[in-house]
Amino acid sequence: MKLINLKNKSIASDYVAVELLKLIQSTPTATLGLATGNTMTEIYPRLSELLTVNCVNLNDIKTFNLDEYVGLNSSHPQSYYTYMHQLLFDHNDWNERNVYIPRGDAPHLEEEAQAYEQRLASIGQPDIQLLGIGENGHIGFNEPGTPFNSQTRIVDLTDSTIKANSIHFDTIDDVPKQAISMGLQSIMRAKRIILLAFGERKQEAISRLIHGPKTETLPASILQTHPNVEIIVDDVIFNHLNNITKRVEQNSF
Ligand code: GLP
Repeated sequence: MKLINLKNKSIASDYVAVELLKLIQSTPTATLGLATGNTMTEIYPRLSELLTVNCVNLNDIKTFNLDEYVGLNSSHPQSYYTYMHQLLFDHNDWNERNVYIPRGDAPHLEEEAQAYEQRLASIGQPDIQLLGIGENGHIGFNEPGTPFNSQTRIVDLTDSTIKANSIHFDTIDDVPKQAISMGLQSIMRAKRIILLAFGERKQEAISRLIHGPKTETLPASILQTHPNVEIIVDDVIFNHLNNITKRVEQNSF
């Protein structure tokens, strides 16, 4: 894993948008693994601008989103379908036939999950997978305790995730209790993974990801064994990690 301090969300978002543009231009049939959440909100508008000014053909680009809330249909304002369309897919000429987002309102959710996993496997490895991280170390909606060999399936959200995500809903009771999420094994298929984390709330999870053991209690720690992972952080997290390292060094003398 490479830890990279890009100072703040704005610079980090520019970096990721440019990396996605470079991939799309060099590989017009590329597959992108996309994520949602606050962490990603500036990446997609920046990418849209770059795609516009560079007149990029998106017809054969495939995208897979990590997850979706169970019970929210595509027109719900807090669905990840709406999020992705407002920030990215409603701009430029994305080919909707190549845009994959799990359906949280599918009548048979387990079948939807299996079909999603099969589609992902048949289309091949994502060339780049974007990831955020939950305060409890979740990636996608793979909560602590998720087996490392998990695939796309229906998951129960923990109380801490429901609380963290309640800021997007009118009341905490409106937050769905389940989601459909790519599994940890599904995520590990990607050729290159870029995980982003900003601010104090994420520093503990990143510290455990960098310094802690590989354990199912911190789902993101599976990334320690992936050959091509960048962890992009801001000054807040980087300084925290630096202070921990200095404290450890001082204690060892
Ligand atoms: C959410 C999403 C994740 C996201 C994470 C962090 O629950 N399922 O895909 O990466 O939690 O969210 P945020 O970026 O809003 O902090």
